[in-house]
Amino acid sequence: MKNILIVEDSKVINNLVKNELDNLNYNCHQAFDFKKAEVFLKKIQYDLIILDLHLPDGEGYELINQVKSLTDTRVVILTGNTEKQLREDLFHHGVLDYIIKDKNLSFAIAEIHKVLKHLESKISDKILLIDDSAFMRKQMSMILTPRNYQVSVAKDATEGLDLLLKEDYNLVILDMELPDMHGSEVLEKIKSNPKYINLPVLIISGTTNADLIRNMYKMGASDFIRKPFIIEEFALKVDIWCDYRKKHLLDLEQKDKLLSQQSKMATMGEMVENIIHQSRQPLSVITAVASGISLEQEYSQLKPETLMKNLDVITQSAMHLSETMGSFRDFFKKEDSKRMFNLSELLEKSFELTSSKFETRNIQIIKCFEDINMYGFDIELLQVFINILNNARDEFEKKDIKDRFIFIDTKNINNNISISIKDNAGGVPKDIIDNIFDSYFTTKEDEEGTGIGLYMSKEIVTKHHNGSISVKNKNFTHKDKVYTGAVFEILIPNTHKNL
Ligand SMILES: Nc1ncnc2c1ncn2[C@@H]1O[C@H](COP(=O)(O)OP(=O)(O)OP(=O)(O)O)[C@@H](O)[C@H]1O
Ligand SMILES: [Mg+2]
Repeated sequence: MKNILIVEDSKVINNLVKNELDNLNYNCHQAFDFKKAEVFLKKIQYDLIILDLHLPDGEGYELINQVKSLTDTRVVILTGNTEKQLREDLFHHGVLDYIIKDKNLSFAIAEIHKVLKHLESKISDKILLIDDSAFMRKQMSMILTPRNYQVSVAKDATEGLDLLLKEDYNLVILDMELPDMHGSEVLEKIKSNPKYINLPVLIISGTTNADLIRNMYKMGASDFIRKPFIIEEFALKVDIWCDYRKKHLLDLEQKDKLLSQQSKMATMGEMVENIIHQSRQPLSVITAVASGISLEQEYSQLKPETLMKNLDVITQSAMHLSETMGSFRDFFKKEDSKRMFNLSELLEKSFELTSSKFETRNIQIIKCFEDINMYGFDIELLQVFINILNNARDEFEKKDIKDRFIFIDTKNINNNISISIKDNAGGVPKDIIDNIFDSYFTTKEDEEGTGIGLYMSKEIVTKHHNGSISVKNKNFTHKDKVYTGAVFEILIPNTHKNL
């Protein structure tokens, strides 16, 4: 979008509009009469024409016929004429918007801004159109495509529902009378999927049956348009519902960002505790050895060999400390990007980062690892492992179980990586097992859990790695004893086959 032609006989208005658009870096040409506009149109391909209707030497709308394609060159009417029929006729001719001039033009300018913003937006909203009439499909596409909407069409319910599964749409426009299914049935099918609860569905129908319309609203339809419709109203409703959808998606995204931040902070808190715990031992070794040396020196008994040996111990301990700190720092410093990593090493890291709370609680980790190099967000997956390990630890504590095991198996089957984490903490109660991946679902007291651990883990596995995570309860034997516990199974397709 760059070239704009302003056709308007009032110099004041023409200049005002040009000024506005110049400031937005558009390349504007001004025509003050019909003839000049014709000359410009013959020479130059415009992206947008802002068109006054009454010109001293002709009628503005006749210029529309000279425009080759109304998808390449959009036309917006800017006029003082409020005649309704003319207005609808112009929409029929493919104009994008009809803006009434107001006193100081502030409303009109704001409207032009809106149109431009919509046309310039890189990601166009996707609309699914389900209608059996080829004429209606064509008419609606012709209204929506120049408005920068990406339209997919379906001629019946089956095709429409099929398309819906394949792509993410911002709006569904649904005809009531379809050959294979009634619109209300289609609506019911759409709304029964939790994923589409907030997807706006615009019903389009010739019916005047108030009961039917009321029912559609009750079933979750967002709006209703009666056929034959007023184009401007139709276009406005589509704009409104697509904006609504976008805003909703944005809210969701922000909520997710917040949750992800919270979850990372929680993991960080655990790790700080772990670091403090792990630092204690080397620090006390250093203090003890240092005071030993100074004592011997005080009594002049310090031999050079002893000094060297003890300094060595101090160096070793200090190095150990700095390593512990380093691995902590790495966790937060590394940028969040996908890379190759070794799965066993990553799991070892998660044990290391949680070790203080596992060793003191006598939890034994039994590993059965295949050597797997995989591609993904290692730091995020580390969080997933830590979340699951911590949950198992919490269950052991809560139920006061004596023998505590966590079995971790990794396998690579046809480039699908499976990671299974099983505990013997009794399993997840049946009545909540379907909810534990929901956000804010927790059975823990206020301070102890926020209920985002598993939600975030699922987000990371499914959305960022195209994988799946599930939980089951299992009875199993280990060293001739029978146990019950929860098994978390993560499946991730390994996308980097060549490495
Ligand atoms: N291994 C397990 N065995 C039994 N129940 C479990 C297990 N793991 C999770 N749960 C149940 O699932 C719930 C949700 O776990 P989730 O990790 O999402 O939240 P949380 O641990 O309660 O809080 P946090 O946000 O601090 O992790 C837990 O409160 C617990 O009831
Ligand atoms: Mg948890």
